[in-house]
Amino acid sequence: MAKNKNCKEKKLAILTSGGDSSGMNACIRAAVRYAMGKGYEVYGVRHGYVGLINDDIFEMKYSSVSNCVHTGGTILRTGRTSEFKKPEVLQAAINNLTKRDIHNLIVIGGDGSFRGVEDIHQNSDVNVIGIPGTIDNDMGYTDYTIGFDTACNTVLDAMLKLRDTITSHDRIMILEVMGRACGDIALYTSVAGGAEYVILPEAPVDVDAIAASVKKGFDKGKTSTIIVLAEGRNDLKEELMEKVKASTGRTVNHIALSYIQRGGTPSMSDRVLASRMAVRAVELIECGQSGRAVGVRGGDLIDMNVIEALNYPKKFDNQLYEIAQKISK
Ligand code: F6P
Repeated sequence: MAKNKNCKEKKLAILTSGGDSSGMNACIRAAVRYAMGKGYEVYGVRHGYVGLINDDIFEMKYSSVSNCVHTGGTILRTGRTSEFKKPEVLQAAINNLTKRDIHNLIVIGGDGSFRGVEDIHQNSDVNVIGIPGTIDNDMGYTDYTIGFDTACNTVLDAMLKLRDTITSHDRIMILEVMGRACGDIALYTSVAGGAEYVILPEAPVDVDAIAASVKKGFDKGKTSTIIVLAEGRNDLKEELMEKVKASTGRTVNHIALSYIQRGGTPSMSDRVLASRMAVRAVELIECGQSGRAVGVRGGDLIDMNVIEALNYPKKFDNQLYEIAQKISK
């Protein structure tokens, strides 16, 4: 939605919020460079909404984003806060922008960050655009979020190494991956990494059947088994370990890759996606748009109302799940 306001000042602020994800820096870089080329003064907000509240805002230069396209984490730092929900805190945060005549803001983050986008959109004359940055790939309106591909590649790299050691010992490895309530990291990596089983929040699980099947696999000559366990079903970890150990009589190891998945050099796909989304966000700002979320569908960039984006159901890729079942054991 375009806001009817006097936008004389070409000033734009950028922040990253929530869990960092690889590719955020490529996104910041592209937004800074493109906006500066369009004549904007660009400001960075440190530590996400926390910095907006604490007035931790600084002017960025062209060189502020030199040599960061390939780096993980976020040069703007990030943060999580629930303070933003308080109307007086929100207003104070907005004032920190408007007192500098900054009337444009780009927020890179996940669904929590997008709620902040909507709050600012509804309660100020600041034009605000959201870009999806999270490893979880849990935002239904977009096929991919920035950082997902890199996180998956990190998991695949670990899986390869784990396969070496468990094959040497004839063991079973439960590989726990992040994703909150979304099983995408688990599903994609299980297919791409040739894992034998994947356990996700989106699909029913029969632990007894898995335990029996793992045994059958070893009986037929298998030398190792990897079970990818999504964070959203890590409540099953103990039961799974006990039952698989009992049925096979073998050692069952567990590793949670945890924060390793968030860091590291962003993949080519994440850098390109981040750069494309940043340019679209600046274009929306140029057109006076606000309360929009940038995404990608079927390879094409899209943008939609941020509330619609937040309410967009995340579709489970049942076809890919079926493929995982067909090719795994
Ligand atoms: O949303 C990204 C994510 O890494 C999730 O996969 C994970 O559940 C969560 O953040 C961890 O959050 P925190 O950094 O607050 O521990």
